[in-house]
Amino acid sequence: MRALANLNGQIMPLEEVKVSALDRGFLFGDAVYEVVRIYQGRPWLEDEHFQRLARSLEAIRIHGVDLVRLRRRVHDTIEAGQFREAMFYIQITRGTSMPRRHAFPKQATPLELVWVEDYDDGPTAESRRSGVGVITHPDLRWHRCGIKSTNLLANVLANQAAHEAGCAEALLYLPDGTLTEASHSSFFWVQHDAVCTTPGRDNILPGITRALVLGLAGRANVTVREGHLRRDDLPRIDELFLTGTTSEVLPVVQIDGKPVGRGEPGPVTRKLQEVYGQAVREFLARP
Ligand code: PDD
Repeated sequence: MRALANLNGQIMPLEEVKVSALDRGFLFGDAVYEVVRIYQGRPWLEDEHFQRLARSLEAIRIHGVDLVRLRRRVHDTIEAGQFREAMFYIQITRGTSMPRRHAFPKQATPLELVWVEDYDDGPTAESRRSGVGVITHPDLRWHRCGIKSTNLLANVLANQAAHEAGCAEALLYLPDGTLTEASHSSFFWVQHDAVCTTPGRDNILPGITRALVLGLAGRANVTVREGHLRRDDLPRIDELFLTGTTSEVLPVVQIDGKPVGRGEPGPVTRKLQEVYGQAVREFLARP
């Protein structure tokens, strides 16, 4: 895999990036991030990702990051590596300070790291055709999941449990059984021909792909509803799919070993995959 980084404005191979042990991202997870897909050398939904990054920075009070400059750095790095099918990762930390103290340091310069890496969509494309299995797992995260922070330990443990069960993802549930989202994806379900998803005001990440799919569903005349799905309701749903930057629209055909609907990707999911692909093609056709 080819990966080129940009650390505070300096382009270098990703393996050569060195960050201080005193960096607060490393010590406290005091950092926010974004992951963006690049199709044919062009960042997809870039405005939306940068807007969410701005909101995350504001929410944790990291100030002084020039996002116009950061965006230019991303473009310079894509250009320098001549990336085509790729993705980029941005992480901003509150910077370094000595000694280690929990409260914000008086003076610290945020660290701005970007990298661009080649992305092979082959395995995910296959999963999009066949559908994947998922598990359900307790949602052990904090109460500010709308912030895209690098504090991902609860997500990591849930996703590892999914992998150990031979599954692609973990649907997270609250103590009352309500499903919120997945470890690194949003989810939708289909019931009585309507596409439903957890309300955005709940404690979930406002997924960029989720928002796009909500809009596309409306335009494709598919009824859209926000609501709550509990683990007990799973036997009564017709379809379920995940959305995310690299997953796009990914059908789920099994949950905890039991089939979803007929155990194959359903017609509404297929329709949304189609309109998603069309939206990407229209974006790429623009000058
Ligand atoms: N994950 N929910 C969670 C908890 C996520 O971490 C993500 C993204 C999503 C989907 O959001 P989007 O459509 O904006 O990619 C939902 C990224 C890709 C990651 O952590 O790698």
